[in-house]
Amino acid sequence: MQKFLDIISEEVKQAFEAAGYDKELGKVTASNRPDLCEFQCNGAMAGAKQYKCAPIAIANAVVEKLAESKVFSAVNAVMPGFLNMNVSEEFVAEYMRGMAEADKFGLEKPKQPKKIIVDYGGPNVAKPLHVGHLRSAVIGESIKRICRYVGHDVLGDVHLGDWGLQMGLVITGLQERQPDLVYYDENYEGEYPKEPPFTIAELEEIYPAASAKSKEDPIYKAKAMDATFKLQNGVRGYRALWRHIINVSIADMKQIYNTLNVEFDLWKGESDVHDLIPEMVKLMKDGGYAYISDGALVVDVKEENDTKEMPPCMILKSDGAALYNTTDLATIMERMNLYQPDELIYLTDKRQELYFEQVFRCAKKTKLVKEDTKLYWLGFGTVNGSNGKPYKTRDGGVMRLENLIKETKEEMYRKIVDNREMDETDAREIANTVAVSALKYGDLSNQASKDYIFDVDRFTSFEGDTGPYILYTIVRIKSILNKYKDQGGSMEGLSIEAPGNASTKELMMQLAGFNAMMQSAYEEIAPHKVCAFIYDLANAFNHFYHETKILGEKDEAKKASLIALLTLTKGVLEAAIDVLGFSAPDKM
Ligand code: ARG
Repeated sequence: MQKFLDIISEEVKQAFEAAGYDKELGKVTASNRPDLCEFQCNGAMAGAKQYKCAPIAIANAVVEKLAESKVFSAVNAVMPGFLNMNVSEEFVAEYMRGMAEADKFGLEKPKQPKKIIVDYGGPNVAKPLHVGHLRSAVIGESIKRICRYVGHDVLGDVHLGDWGLQMGLVITGLQERQPDLVYYDENYEGEYPKEPPFTIAELEEIYPAASAKSKEDPIYKAKAMDATFKLQNGVRGYRALWRHIINVSIADMKQIYNTLNVEFDLWKGESDVHDLIPEMVKLMKDGGYAYISDGALVVDVKEENDTKEMPPCMILKSDGAALYNTTDLATIMERMNLYQPDELIYLTDKRQELYFEQVFRCAKKTKLVKEDTKLYWLGFGTVNGSNGKPYKTRDGGVMRLENLIKETKEEMYRKIVDNREMDETDAREIANTVAVSALKYGDLSNQASKDYIFDVDRFTSFEGDTGPYILYTIVRIKSILNKYKDQGGSMEGLSIEAPGNASTKELMMQLAGFNAMMQSAYEEIAPHKVCAFIYDLANAFNHFYHETKILGEKDEAKKASLIALLTLTKGVLEAAIDVLGFSAPDKM
């Protein structure tokens, strides 16, 4: 469907043309004086110079041409030459009927669907997910869903940190605890056990201990580096052990991501591109892009207009070892080979900005990607505590993501059972669903690049700009629709009629903005726009609800129209929360 505002603009543009003026002057915007009118056009002001006449003369001429318009109920020229407009009730209702029937509420399909890969999550094997992993998962999931909803072909890849020294450290740490494990016997030729020799809890102890020890003990560090080397060069036992580490880790990660409704299509990692590195290095050398500097292999990525320092992109360390850059570049190469994406979107902490600038420039320069492949990095801000510093546990430690989720669920449960009689199992289940909305909306409603304060009390509140408020609104609609059905009401053949009061019209006009909002949330890669939209929509709905008799409406046609409007509102809200990555319970 054509966008609501575009139809309105088109109508006014034609009136400008019919009155003998430049069509482009007829651009319409939402009114910045909603007390005076719904829409405005300042084209007559802009045209006055061009046509050497008073703006009001142009405005008057346009008003005359719009006299018969079905789009407007009122068009006024006001001094010195503004056009103030209200749309007609029938026009709004017709747009609502179109939305109710259209696929995706009138959001148009892209002419050329793109292949997009979203790289998000980025957890590291053998290390527990912590608060720092929240935003990548939550924002990335939403971006993936927005791109998909808009009609593109999207893959989400978790891009595990599963390769470097961290793996060698775990292998070495484990050897210290269990020196007799068969994996360390290089002469062993039999099959390795199917069961991992550790639990996730042990694994999580091993890494920090080994990491700390390696910082103090150079011999230990050398051992870990040797283990890393052996792993990367395919020593059987090390590979088998590493598989166990990955499997145990992934099983744990999946549980946490599942509670957050975060699903990856690809569970690939840095290790997957290990074998591609020699080919990539050769390509970069043969192309004349890579050269040796202080023993390391680097590619210059400076550009003429750079105002900031732009160090070269390091491809291999002087000992020939791969780095974070190397695996990222090789991953780009692999993605181009396997999926031919038009666009790659990366989510990481803001602090990786320079790093991604270097990697992207290097990928373009060395032609790992096509000239027109879009490489986009979105850097997000920090999750802070109430003191404005990075969020910590009460005793100042790193907050595990698992515990952050648990705390939110507990707080949500407390709020749900407060003032309400509810079965314990029901309350827990509902609290879990609503807590996900609290956590995700609390994050997504902020512009991604900004830091925000994690305030569990505010996020779980049923009032204000929160996930629970949005869900509460949806549950309210569901309950009215259920009552209507219980009273024998039919959902068949309902059609939205012209609004009967101001709050109904306001609700309709909010709904009408859905396709334009979704399009711009996609174009600007901005989930917070979806949040802002549903907050306004939920407010418009609740205002309408307080002003309008729905089930008590005596006129059956009017009642049917209200039910159809409720159904549409519910559909739009549900589509929007689905792209944000959470869902509504049936009651709460
Ligand atoms: N594992 C990395 C980290 O902990 C994040 C990975 C982000 N994605 C990427 N393609 N570099 O910082």
